[in-house]
Amino acid sequence: MDATLSPPVTLVIFGATGDLTRRLLVPAVVNLTRSGLAGDDLNILGVGIEPGDDEMLRRRLDEFLSGLGGDSPLSKDEAWLRLRQRISYVSGDFTKDDLFLEISRKLALAPHGNAAFYFAVPPQFFGAIVEKLALHGLTHETNGTFRRIAIEKPFGTDLASARALNALILSNVAESQVYRLDHFLGKETVQNIMTTRFANMMIESLWNSNFIDNVQITAAETVDVGSRGKFYDATGALRDMVPNHLFQLLALVAMEPPNSFDAEAIRNEKSKLLSALRIYTPEEAEIHSARGAYSAGALNGRDIPGFAQTPDVSPDTTTETFVALKLYADTWRWAGVPFYLRTGKAMTARDTEIVVTFRQVPFAQFRKTDVSRHLPPNRLIIQVQPDEGISMEISIKSPGLSVDTVPASLDFRYADAFDIGKMTGYESLLYELFVGDQTLFQRADGIEAGWAAVQPFLDAWAKGGKPEPYEPGSTGPACAEDLIKRDGRQWHALGTASGRDKQQ
Ligand code: BG6
Repeated sequence: MDATLSPPVTLVIFGATGDLTRRLLVPAVVNLTRSGLAGDDLNILGVGIEPGDDEMLRRRLDEFLSGLGGDSPLSKDEAWLRLRQRISYVSGDFTKDDLFLEISRKLALAPHGNAAFYFAVPPQFFGAIVEKLALHGLTHETNGTFRRIAIEKPFGTDLASARALNALILSNVAESQVYRLDHFLGKETVQNIMTTRFANMMIESLWNSNFIDNVQITAAETVDVGSRGKFYDATGALRDMVPNHLFQLLALVAMEPPNSFDAEAIRNEKSKLLSALRIYTPEEAEIHSARGAYSAGALNGRDIPGFAQTPDVSPDTTTETFVALKLYADTWRWAGVPFYLRTGKAMTARDTEIVVTFRQVPFAQFRKTDVSRHLPPNRLIIQVQPDEGISMEISIKSPGLSVDTVPASLDFRYADAFDIGKMTGYESLLYELFVGDQTLFQRADGIEAGWAAVQPFLDAWAKGGKPEPYEPGSTGPACAEDLIKRDGRQWHALGTASGRDKQQ
């Protein structure tokens, strides 16, 4: 679809004085405004618990935006100065009727009836807000207007709570009005996974268990838990990253080709794949998982406390800051192909990548040559971040008279070809929310299928045991190495795709 000006809309942000609003949502709307994709009939109505008026919110945003954009701060950007005038604020309690009456009055001032309600608030408010919106008729779509709700993760903390949340939401609004955000889907390289697969015959025709040995999906971070102790101790690496971000990558990598690029066609295939993930018994889940927690040490030249000593973390915590899983998608295409997933904090490199390792060639024809008996397998590496790009590892003949091979990497980096610098990753998500395209958003069944596959790990770990300690700045605990070594394989080295330094 060609991107055109989005329709008039009031973006109602619950949690308007929070971090997400100033760091990502407002800069993304500024970027959309500058690029002509959001017009002067887009208004922002901020909603927050803090007392204040329109000018309070505008000034707060000014202050924050003055720190973005280096020598040409975003606070001076002409697009921001235009948008700034159209920002208003109401304060109140998210669970009280008078706030929603006030929102209703404000919305009635707009010449159009369109509204997108964005929940940039902690999850305990999701239910209350959606119920109040429905009660006050604010989610009612009349005369061709739209009313949509956009919800950030977490969607529940386990299978039962995810089901309950979906049921509550869907008893108040239709699925077509719900935009469940996973910010990974706003990343350019994530959106490119489908193009890489379905626009390239040489890739998609090899994309199955006949040719692929294993798939690794990694989201390694160098940051530690820092000031997020309370949230993280209650959450852990598995819940924080796996059923959402990593499963979105997995679904895009492994789903069947959709019949079209329509939202429902794509979401059908993603849900089908997620619901084909093998559901382990808790005993199997224990065997096919590894968990770790970083200990005290040095990270990027500074000393950090161990996770258990982090402020607001219980000293006898059993929460993991690293998890590795081995999963199977029980489909015709993927029969027997392991999907290894890992994610962790305080690791050696920031590295989000998908590594597809192909099977080895039959090597008979090289028998009488200098080629070593085991040729390295081909690999396709989709580098999600940093240094977004795609590499293909192949074997080539080394120059000279003897027949010998050396590995070579065909390497494409987005930054070498395109100007991708200034985007927040939320531009496409907000734009699709405004134009009403749900492709980049998760559907209730996909979310529940993801939690169903994760639940056995939660159940297994609830029975006891502790995460294994690992050094900050390492590749994770030894048990994660064992998980993959048992299968005669190894993890792709962190921070090494394209041979560039990915340390950040
Ligand atoms: C968030 C998690 O959803 O994703 C964080 O709560 C994590 O713990 C973050 O750091 C990673 O996102 P990104 O875009 O920085 O890779």
